[in-house]
Amino acid sequence: MFIVLEGIDGCGKSTQAKLLYNWLKKKHDVILTKEPTESKIGKFIREILSGSISVDPKTLSLLFTADRYEHLENEVIPALNSKKIVVCERYYFSTIAYQMAQGLEREWLVNLNKFALKPDIALFIDVLPEIAVKRTVTGEIFETCEFSKKIYKNYLNFNLIRINGKQDVKGVFEDIKEVVENKIQNSGSVN
Ligand code: TYD
Repeated sequence: MFIVLEGIDGCGKSTQAKLLYNWLKKKHDVILTKEPTESKIGKFIREILSGSISVDPKTLSLLFTADRYEHLENEVIPALNSKKIVVCERYYFSTIAYQMAQGLEREWLVNLNKFALKPDIALFIDVLPEIAVKRTVTGEIFETCEFSKKIYKNYLNFNLIRINGKQDVKGVFEDIKEVVENKIQNSGSVN
């Protein structure tokens, strides 16, 4: 089973991904992973996000997507094939929401990602940009309120499972657990 957590910067997705991982691992084989990854492509992306190198948004989209296809081949698909649950922070919804906010065409971004495996569960942790931006700490290039507002709007156009992120950490996690538990029960197995 492939579970993806999405949301704008500062929405609390890393905290929730860790809680979900720790809860699932009591009963299942599970890996916790994220995009951008720790690969060479991922490290290059981090340099761009820090603002030390600047590239065209099209180039950045291609890098995020390249990082994703390598992630799928080397980590996600092998884990799923060995019946593990994969919890992944960010996936192609991020490329579409963020790089559209940089002015790129949705269709082109969707097309780039069309060979990427569809997740079984895609959660959107819904926190308003005004609140989320106060929680961001890294100073990366996308962490501004104006930009987050655009990304937030783009996320609302996807068909994602919306989790009310305005609750406290425990409340958000309870909602996520309910979605995941139902899916595991209804699928009869974890893969
Ligand atoms: P993020 O998960 O927020 O990392 P961290 O919290 O460790 O800084 O991801 C880094 C940034 O990259 C974030 O602003 C979202 C952005 N991003 C894209 O613009 N496109 C993508 O395809 C992905 C995966 C992330």
